[in-house]
Amino acid sequence: MSRSAHPAGPRHADVLPEGHYSAPAADLNALDEKVWSRTVTRDADGALTVGGIAVARLAEEFGTPAYFLDESDFRARCRAWADAFGPDADVFYAGKAFLSRAIVRWLKEEGLNLDVCSGGELTTALDAGMPAERIAFHGNNKTVAEIERAVEAGVGRIVLDSFQEIVRVAHIAQRHGVRQRVQIRVTVGVEAHTHEFIATAHEDQKFGIALADGQAAEAVRRALALDGLELIGVHSHIGSQIFDMAGFEVSARRVVQLLAEIRDEHGVELPEIDLGGGLGIAYTSDDDPREPHEIAKALSDIVTRECEAAKLRTPRISVEPGRAIVGPTAFTLYEVGTIKPLEGLRTYVSVDGGMSDNIRTALYDAEYSVALVSRTSDAEPMLVRVVGKHCESGDIVVKDAFLPADLAPGDLIAVPATGAYCRSMASNYNHALRPPVVAVRDGEARVIVRRETEEDLLRLDVG
Ligand code: LLP
Repeated sequence: MSRSAHPAGPRHADVLPEGHYSAPAADLNALDEKVWSRTVTRDADGALTVGGIAVARLAEEFGTPAYFLDESDFRARCRAWADAFGPDADVFYAGKAFLSRAIVRWLKEEGLNLDVCSGGELTTALDAGMPAERIAFHGNNKTVAEIERAVEAGVGRIVLDSFQEIVRVAHIAQRHGVRQRVQIRVTVGVEAHTHEFIATAHEDQKFGIALADGQAAEAVRRALALDGLELIGVHSHIGSQIFDMAGFEVSARRVVQLLAEIRDEHGVELPEIDLGGGLGIAYTSDDDPREPHEIAKALSDIVTRECEAAKLRTPRISVEPGRAIVGPTAFTLYEVGTIKPLEGLRTYVSVDGGMSDNIRTALYDAEYSVALVSRTSDAEPMLVRVVGKHCESGDIVVKDAFLPADLAPGDLIAVPATGAYCRSMASNYNHALRPPVVAVRDGEARVIVRRETEEDLLRLDVG
């Protein structure tokens, strides 16, 4: 992930230290539209606004740290995915990226389906009125209780992840007198170009059933033989934050080959394939994500071509984008606290949140951008590391970035593209209070997930 160091004018070092940074932007006040949500702009005073509301007002009303989610951008991205894939495909939003009842309602209104991977996500989806048949249930270790609830609710599909689960789901479905629609998750053996912890299609990991050694074919045999199951297709998810379409294409090809083998062995043409999620987004100006229509075209071309070659009916395709929909729609707003210049190194800028609201930098070495948003500044760029307030030196939010050298305590800074896997992976480390998610749209802001309070902490601590 390392990029070349750039020698442009930092304040605290003649020679820049080793790092993962690019050159400072020519104008630190400019907002790169690649990393900010669509309604973000600066007002006449230079303050950042989202949905027409300035950050100072947002900070005053909702406090910091807080996530601000651009609702019209979220809805537009849902529509872009649905339109790109069209009526012959299904888009399942991956709820693990970020889920709340408001999100479920927006998904429902915009015509998307929902992928859940726990009892908690299932409850949120059902409570907010997502029709059960539009829900897919995932997970490598669904509990019996979770499977019971999913079957009882009538979820549209359960994605089977192991031989044991094939039998488990079949028994539960039979007990409920239903045939549960299922897919089998296969590992196609693709090395996805992403961080090891978020790559999922190589064989040495916990998800799915391997294609390579005939295990997937055996899983299909077993599923087809069980009365409680209606096998509707095969599923492959190769990883997350991926830019290169080549991995998806190999995955699609291998999944179609498996469908052809199933047809040859069982005389059955499975009607669906799911190619998972994993499409990358721009966290910094160096990232170049694909648009949904390019992704849809690449995937449907390869599936159609492979099916023609194998003389198969083209299956219905589904995809499960999470990050690509919600990631770019939110930013985290922080207030600057302590500023500590380390001569010859960099300046540590401490904010009022940290690894409890964004664990991704510590966990995946993720790169983020940051901007001074309560005002503009013409000061020279200074090399900073944005760190949190937790008792851990790995508590880093933005590892290497440039902010104006006149940054001062009390300034507001924002980290864009934090809509995915930040609130959903937030923790109470050091008894931090998890920040609220505030939806902003057309000049109105409303809390969709409230800030935790100290009473919340004490309520769980039963003495
Ligand atoms: N479908 C399945 C079966 C998945 O496991 C995932 C993500 C998705 C879809 C959605 O992937 P997306 O489009 O959001 O990349 N916490 C990590 C990402 C973990 C992804 C887990 N599975 C991160 O912060 O990067």
